[in-house]
Amino acid sequence: MKTKIAENIPGYTYGQSGVAKSPINTDELKLLKQSVGMTEEDERYLRVAGEVLSDRTEELVGRWRTVIAAHPHLARYSKRLDGQADPHYSQNSGLRFQQWILDTCLRPYDQDWLNYQQEIALRHTSVKKNKTDGVESIGYIPLRYVVTFTAVINDAHILKPLLAAKGHSAEEVDRMHQAWCKSVQLQIALWAEPYTDTKIAPNEW
Ligand code: HEM
Repeated sequence: MKTKIAENIPGYTYGQSGVAKSPINTDELKLLKQSVGMTEEDERYLRVAGEVLSDRTEELVGRWRTVIAAHPHLARYSKRLDGQADPHYSQNSGLRFQQWILDTCLRPYDQDWLNYQQEIALRHTSVKKNKTDGVESIGYIPLRYVVTFTAVINDAHILKPLLAAKGHSAEEVDRMHQAWCKSVQLQIALWAEPYTDTKIAPNEW
């Protein structure tokens, strides 16, 4: 099964030394997993979801981006400062977005995973947005849009048809979807950290 969406993903630095350090360790992560109700069964269903989605990541990111594109107040964060599209930015960040789907489902949630969560969070804030791709775009994505967009990322109408496409039962599809939603909610809790630390990304709510 495919675990990388492409051999070369520009700016994808998972596990590398330049990645931000998470403020928490894997013991603290255990408590977050408990808080979101993530069980070993959920972890198994995430793996199944990863197998099912591994060749559909482009389509899934496309569906989410259709929602962003439909709303100018969201679409502007991927554009240049003059409001024009930036194909290089969309292409590169889109590949990383696709890889994130597989990482969510297939990576072990270890310290490297935690660290890359912090990196993704920072790439939505003024600390790192635009820097990876060397683009000139709006400086940060407000936390409130990241939190609200979680409902779109977890939307059953978007996810379930894809999760069902390889013949799993409705029950299994439901389990995959639930496991996915828990993981995303947990990740958003992690991503809130730099936004709430006044020394990192203050006033970016
Ligand atoms: C639950 C909500 C969201 C999820 C799961 C998500 C996921 C991601 C991921 C995985 C990346 C690539 C990280 C990497 O570099 O490896 C990314 C980057 C990006 N996202 Fe989000 N995102 C969310 C919300 C939003 C919202 C609301 C917007 C804009 C309205 C947005 C715009 C962007 C942009 C512009 C980038 C590129 C950032 C850069 O490196 O300059 N995201 N997102």
